[in-house]
Parts: sequence; structure tokens; C-alpha cells
Amino acid sequence: MLDLLITNATLPDGRTGMSIAVQGGRIAEVTAGLDAPAHEKLDAQGLLLAPHFVDPHFHMDATLSYGLPRVNESGTLLEGIALWGELKPLLKADALIERALAYCDWAVAKGLLAVRSHVDTSDPSLLAVDALLEVKRQVAPYLDLQLVAFPQDGVLRSAGGVDNLKRALDKGVDVVGGIPHFERTMADGAASVTLLMELAAERGKLVDMHCDESDDPLSRHIETLSAETWRLGMQGRVTGSHCTSMHSMDNYYVSKLLPLIAQSGVSVVSNPLINITLQGRHDTYPKRRGMTRVPELMAAGVNVAFGHDCVMDPWYGMGSGDMLEVAHMGLHVAQMTSQAGIRQCFEAVTANAARVMHLEGYGIEAGCDASFVLLQARDPVEAIRLRASRLKVFRKGRLLAETPAATAALHLPGREQATSWMIRKP
Ligand code: FE2
Repeated sequence: MLDLLITNATLPDGRTGMSIAVQGGRIAEVTAGLDAPAHEKLDAQGLLLAPHFVDPHFHMDATLSYGLPRVNESGTLLEGIALWGELKPLLKADALIERALAYCDWAVAKGLLAVRSHVDTSDPSLLAVDALLEVKRQVAPYLDLQLVAFPQDGVLRSAGGVDNLKRALDKGVDVVGGIPHFERTMADGAASVTLLMELAAERGKLVDMHCDESDDPLSRHIETLSAETWRLGMQGRVTGSHCTSMHSMDNYYVSKLLPLIAQSGVSVVSNPLINITLQGRHDTYPKRRGMTRVPELMAAGVNVAFGHDCVMDPWYGMGSGDMLEVAHMGLHVAQMTSQAGIRQCFEAVTANAARVMHLEGYGIEAGCDASFVLLQARDPVEAIRLRASRLKVFRKGRLLAETPAATAALHLPGREQATSWMIRKP
């Protein structure tokens, strides 16, 4: 007897009428039209069953702090960093944990069951590190939280930066982070990349650096990160996040850079909601979009994922943990409006993001974890268009969240009462 049998599901790859058999928290079988005895059965009614959403880039130590101690008036990255600097001495571990746990509840409700969060290691007390390690422990039964040691003030620029970051790793933080474009000079930035890459190689850690998060066409840290990845044999273990300066770089230079990133097996994480908000702020008109070259990176064979980055914090006052909103913004800013492009944007918040985090057992295949989301949509394109309701969210075969199907009751003059939910009839 199976634990759970889902029938008549559509999968992201387009297969329809699929049954997913679940036993012991894992997918036992994925077959068209299978019927078998099960403790629980769920008819998907032809709707999309997708692996859960994954956010490969977030800042959980700052989330839900919007307005503390004041809002970001200029809306710039630099005022955001300054504001975070004002907030840090006021942070209390209990309040930080409470905010992070509240965000994790939002995430689960939206089918987001794995998050890679940077945690600021600049404060020598490592208060935020300890707090997020506690959050990681508490949410482990329902959400995979992976932490990145992130020296927000610059690992070389701030006193004790290297030591603080090493102590965060000693405490159990999973990934080595960095912020080379925030070091004092381009040369210091490059030196910080080398230092942090060697540290990660020595400790067998993954790497994820904020890289070239500016509009400076001459910022070159993704080049150094890729070259160091190649030199140290760390292909597949390194990610460059943001990479917004690539938007403004010279095309000839980019034609040389893209193959280097691809050959080095470096993943790139773009954060469309934040990049479109924070970049181009020094421009008059035309204003640059400031998002990295997503379709070109994908075409070059680079694993590209989309992250949320911020929700209601010093940098961004919007957001709800909805990775379909992230994909929706990504496809607009990158102009990825073909059917194939929209599907790639769906993969950027699911499979590609799971690859960045090195998640095991991810996907809808026999042997994978039974961790998936039933969406009120018939395919990935419709899911993004509608930012579809997450009807059911399962993790390892267990139901974690349910949202009623969205529908509007219409009371139109001269018409019979009707309901509508923006799904075009096939
Ligand atoms: Fe970030």
C-alpha cells in the first residue's frame, strides 16, 4: 500500500496524465495512468505538479525589518548598506529569529522549501550568524536553509573581516561568501576573491560571492572568480551572484567572458526584483536595467538561477517569498518572452536554483524526495503568468501547506452569475 498517490498531474516537462506514487517520503514511481492502493489519493485534475521552488540568494538576517530604524529614501544599494549599518547595532537575536521564522512560514505557504541565505559576518559578535544557525535548526523539519558567510562590509575593508568569516565557518555556516566590488580598490577586490577561494578550497566549502553588483562596466570580479575556480579545480562548486555590471560591459569583452564562466562551471544568480530596483540609479535617461545578461549566459551553457535577494528590508520594501513573482520580473527585464524563454525562467527558480545549492533528491523522478507543489495552472507558462496559487505543498510526502483555489464570483448586469479565474479554455 502506497502512502500517497497523485493522479492526473501535468509535469513541467509537458507530460500529462501522470501518476506519482509516494512511499516513505520518496517518489517510488512516476508513470502515466497508474492506479494503485494508497492511504491517500489526490486527483490533480490535469494541473501542474512541479518540484518545490528554490531561492538560491536571500538575506534572511535582514528580512521583514523594513522601516527599522527608518526607510531607504534614495532607494539605492549604498543607502541600503548604510541603513543596514545603522540597524546592526540595534539587532536583538530574539527579534531577528522571530522575523526569519515568520518569513519561513511565508516561504512554505508559497511552495518555497529551500533557501540559500547570506548572513552578515562583519559584526565580531556574530549575533546574526548564531541567530540564523538557530533558525536553520528550527526550520529543518520543513525547509532547507543553507547559510553563506557574507562579509557585507568587505572582508579586507573591515577590521577583523577574515577572522570573523572564518569563525562563522567554524560555527557551521555552509558556504564561503564575498563582496569584492565593495572592497576599497579593484585590486583589493581581486585579492579578496583569491583569498576566499583558497579558504573555500582548503575547507572543502561551496562558494557564492556577490560579484560586480554595480553599473561599472569595468568591474571584473566575475572574471577573477571564474579564473580562480578553474585554477583551484572547483568547477561546479562556485556561484557569482548579481553580476549586474555585465549589463554595462563592452560587448567584445563579454564575448570573451561568457566562455570563461561556462568553462569554469561557475553558476550565476540574478536577482531581477532587486537588480531592476537598485541599479541604474546614477543614470538620468536612458536608465540602464542593470540585470545581468541572462539569456546570453544560458545560451553559453552557464547554469543561471533567479533569487529573491530581499523581502521588506533596507534594500527593498516589497515581496512575499513568491518565486513566481521573481520569475515573472526576470522574464520581463530579460525580455525572455518566447515560450522557451518563459520555461527557462521557471527553471531558474526550480531546477537551476537547486543545482546552485547542490540539493540532493530534487525533482519529480523515481528516487527523488516527494517534495512538490500542486499549482493552479496547467503548465509553467501559465504558472508564471498568474503567479498561480499553491494549492498543495508537500515535503517528503507530508502535506505542509494548502491554499484555496483563487476564483472571482462575477455579478454582471444582464448576465447569469458566473465565476472566473483567468485560465483560457484549452
Ligand atoms: Fe544579495
